[in-house]
Amino acid sequence: MKKVAILGSTGSIGTQALEVISQIKDSFSVISLGAGKNIELLKRQIKEFCPQKVSVLDKSDADKLSVEFPNVEFFFGENGLEQLVTDKDVDIVLVAVSGKIGLKPTISAIKHQKNIALANKETLVMAGDIVMPLAKEYGVEILPVDSEHSAIFQCLNTGASSKIKPKKLIITASGGPFKDKPLQEIQNATAKEALNHPRWNMGRKITVDSATLMNKGLEVIEAHHLFNMDYDDIKVVIHPQSVIHSAIEYEDGSVIAQMGIPSMHIPIQYALTYPKRITGIETESFDFVKIAQLTFEAPDFEKFPALKLAFDAGKKGRTFPTVLNAANEEAVMSFLDGKIRLTDINYIVETLLNKHVPIENATLEDILSIDEKTREEAKQMIEQLLCSR
Ligand SMILES: NC(=O)c1ccc[n+]([C@@H]2O[C@H](COP(=O)([O-])OP(=O)(O)OC[C@H]3O[C@@H](n4cnc5c(N)ncnc54)[C@H](OP(=O)(O)O)[C@@H]3O)[C@@H](O)[C@H]2O)c1
Repeated sequence: MKKVAILGSTGSIGTQALEVISQIKDSFSVISLGAGKNIELLKRQIKEFCPQKVSVLDKSDADKLSVEFPNVEFFFGENGLEQLVTDKDVDIVLVAVSGKIGLKPTISAIKHQKNIALANKETLVMAGDIVMPLAKEYGVEILPVDSEHSAIFQCLNTGASSKIKPKKLIITASGGPFKDKPLQEIQNATAKEALNHPRWNMGRKITVDSATLMNKGLEVIEAHHLFNMDYDDIKVVIHPQSVIHSAIEYEDGSVIAQMGIPSMHIPIQYALTYPKRITGIETESFDFVKIAQLTFEAPDFEKFPALKLAFDAGKKGRTFPTVLNAANEEAVMSFLDGKIRLTDINYIVETLLNKHVPIENATLEDILSIDEKTREEAKQMIEQLLCSR
């Protein structure tokens, strides 16, 4: 039985992970849950999964919950998540919080030799050059949860040999809600329209990232770190049906792809049970005839410049991806608050990347300070945009 800590238990990935776990109860024990502010859902999860430790964002919530659940130990704030992952009873940590808050607990978990099921792509975008070597040093597995990276991971586990190596990673993208819309419509898109993803039901930040294709850019950087692949050998292809989750072209010309209905249950299950594959998860049966058609297109880098910004930031390396991530996160939150336009996100990210002076061999402290500085600069730009309109 694996003992699991779930960070972000009340989110899209977190709730789906608990659905998976409840279907294969004999394989897992939920040791701890980390959430933000959705206390009503968290209470239901505590009742069902009986964790030993729980972390929430606010102290007042932790205090109230301690009265209601006297047998559970409660933590709060930024350090709360770190308290959960360092617990000696935990074997594997599912990092399913959204944004930069995933980084520090992931690093703490690695240093305490916990395997990581990583949904939080921002961790590797911000600090992949630190996180991946650290995982190697501590003998920790970083198991991808993102469906594209899980697909590549599954293809690698099936197709790699010592002689024939991957030549190219092919990452698929649905194209998001604005794939066929004119630029004018994208410029004036509301948050409601951007949140209306055609295939996936996800948290708000990743859904907006999917609408701008920044999500795909973040995934390219994530894939570079996870699979040690050169950016020139990572290709993105638009595949609106989201049936092929990604593929590898090998040196012998063979292409191995992983397919399935669009469901996060499978990649979550694969990461949590790895290296085993297990049965017991309810999934819709795969039907080629029902799917009928699989189509592919090249991404439109002009209409969706975020993808190019991410490729460029990744290729430049050093602290450019940290800036990309921080500027994007701040701009997305302002877009969701109705302060800026969807296309302003790219403008803010590009401007801050252009003025960034990178640091070589950045430490975690460097990364955190660049992250903070970039957020301040992004906020200033957002204020200026608001004043100018
Ligand atoms: N959703 C998907 O299908 C999907 C697919 C691939 C990768 N991912 C990646 O997985 C990560 C999570 O995505 P998501 O869609 O599940 O996001 P989400 O639905 O927004 O969930 C975020 C979770 O993080 C918690 N949280 C937020 N701020 C927190 C804080 N300061 N301290 C503690 N907990 C906090 C939230 O708690 P409350 O709700 O209680 O406030 C919630 O449980 C992202 O990095 C995303 O890119 C998601």
